[in-house]
Amino acid sequence: MVRAVYPGSFDPLHNGHVDVIRRASRLFDHLTVAVVNNPLKNDGCFSIDERTAIVRETVAGMPDVDVATFQGLLVGFMQEASANVIVKGLRAISDYEYELQMAHLNRQMNRDVETLFVMTAARWSYLSSTRVREIAGFGADVSKLVPPATLRRLRQRFGPQVGVEPAATP
Ligand code: PNS
Repeated sequence: MVRAVYPGSFDPLHNGHVDVIRRASRLFDHLTVAVVNNPLKNDGCFSIDERTAIVRETVAGMPDVDVATFQGLLVGFMQEASANVIVKGLRAISDYEYELQMAHLNRQMNRDVETLFVMTAARWSYLSSTRVREIAGFGADVSKLVPPATLRRLRQRFGPQVGVEPAATP
């Protein structure tokens, strides 16, 4: 049984994240999406409870995927979750150095933990939570960039101009 963890701030969850969750969930027996709770970082958009609720709503119905929050070191949470694979999304070479450093440090702290990278789908490779927050903050449409649960919270925060949820296909 291979259990993996996909950690992140997810502030907010966007379509690039959802793509990684879907694809990673097919590779492992179980995937936990772990939302980091960093009380020192308060320059984001949504609280830990809001970010977790968005992820939970989005992964509902995906088999063998659950959602958790963690505080402190990721390797500590890995132990708690009985998982030894960290999943990360790589968008571009610019992500690589930062991710390489974290992968080496995490492995240095726990030899049993491996980091595996999923290449973000090309269509979302330009996307980041920072840009989603910025665009929505200026009141522009982000409906093609985020899942419905995120869009709903962004509309509550910034107003209806950030986008209308596409009608569900029958
Ligand atoms: O979505 P993000 O902000 O790029 O995610 C970064 C995250 C949460 C994966 C990273 O900051 C993390 O692992 N934080 C937990 C603290 C930790 O373990 N730090 C040491 C990493 S070597």
